[in-house]
Amino acid sequence: KRIRNVSQKEENIRCLTLLGHFGFECLPYQLVNRSIQQGFSFNVLCVGETGIGKSTLIDTLFNINFKEHKSSHFYSNVGLRVQTYKLQESNVQLKLTVAETVGYGDQVNKEASYQPIVDYLDAQFEAYLQEELKIKRSYFEYHDSRIHVCLYFISPTGHSLKSLDLLTMKKIDRKVNIVPLIAKADTVSKNDLQKFKSNIMSELAGNGIQIYQFPEDEEPTAQMTSLKEHLPFAVVGSMDEVKVGKRMVRGRQYPWGVLQVENENHCDFVRLRDMLLCTNMEDLKEQTHTQHYERYRCHRLQKMGFTDVGPDNQPISFQEIYEAKRQELYEQCQREEEQLKQKFMQRVKEKETEFKEAEKELQDKFEHLKKVQQEETMKLEEERKQLEAEIIDFYKMKAASESLQAQTCTNTKKD
Ligand code: GTP
Ligand code: MG
Repeated sequence: KRIRNVSQKEENIRCLTLLGHFGFECLPYQLVNRSIQQGFSFNVLCVGETGIGKSTLIDTLFNINFKEHKSSHFYSNVGLRVQTYKLQESNVQLKLTVAETVGYGDQVNKEASYQPIVDYLDAQFEAYLQEELKIKRSYFEYHDSRIHVCLYFISPTGHSLKSLDLLTMKKIDRKVNIVPLIAKADTVSKNDLQKFKSNIMSELAGNGIQIYQFPEDEEPTAQMTSLKEHLPFAVVGSMDEVKVGKRMVRGRQYPWGVLQVENENHCDFVRLRDMLLCTNMEDLKEQTHTQHYERYRCHRLQKMGFTDVGPDNQPISFQEIYEAKRQELYEQCQREEEQLKQKFMQRVKEKETEFKEAEKELQDKFEHLKKVQQEETMKLEEERKQLEAEIIDFYKMKAASESLQAQTCTNTKKD
């Protein structure tokens, strides 16, 4: 009876087909739409020796010909060439920034080769921090240039890492997600490549170098496990189209055959591309923000004197820190002012004594000259008196002699 009732009811029901999703199951679609409208941005740093294949790999990854100039081997310092491209694939826009090292590994003394790279990474963090600290922030227009991934190109020696590789990676591993790559992997045989890969991984671990860690899921997917196993990715880049059978494929033509860039049995290019573009780009960005930038921000704010807890381990507010800093600065200014005053007084005193000494010296000199002059005058006066006496004597003698002469003449005449 009941069954009959149901079927009677069903006859009266109008069946509607769903036109779309409804309820909060739609939330992800809002995110997708917003992301498509805003577009995506991705910042890559390529570190590797000159001519190791950095530009070719970027071209192959993004399927575009950037027509890059080749660098010379004679730069005295390592530099960075940064370029930003606006790419579009169907309705998805991507703002890609590529920073490529110039002259890396070309100097005789390679000790400071890592410094420009470290400075560049820090400068991008600093720019973001300054934007974050502004009162009026404009995240929408702001171009976030923090590097999301560093593709480190290892020379295909088939042997082991160079000390320059270890030094540089050690210096940047807390600042960026490092993905190690064996460049020009077509130059290493399959057997050598396996040994080379395991040598590199054990050397990295032995030196405590932290490379990019794939996200740890409870149940890791087969794809993730495969990606991890293939690290460091042995990559080959090429923009050349080569004919294989009836198909045109991207590859490198050799006298003995064709290396297909997008063939997983030939190299790890596809694994790298999948990881960067399809599976891990968002995680790379997230790790950049939550780990590397956070570390930089924490260090910088602590250096500026900010802290979350006071000396007594009690939470301390921003206002309190600000007041304490202001007081500290005021006291420091006072101290410096006092020091400057004292220095000034000291200098004035020194100058005063200097002037007094000079004055005394001049006075002494004057007194001495005066004395000499007085003595000279007295001497001259004496000489003058003596001369006058001599003149008087002379006139006396002259008069006496004249009178004597006159007497003698008179006596002679008388005779
Ligand atoms: P600079 O920017 O000048 O430092 O060089 P780069 O590292 O960008 O290298 P670039 O991509 O300009 O490649 C240099 C040369 O290496 C070119 O002749 C490329 O054809 C060749 N090359 C690039 N990738 C590969 C590769 O995977 N295998 C082989 N065998 N050659 C490659
Ligand atoms: Mg280049």
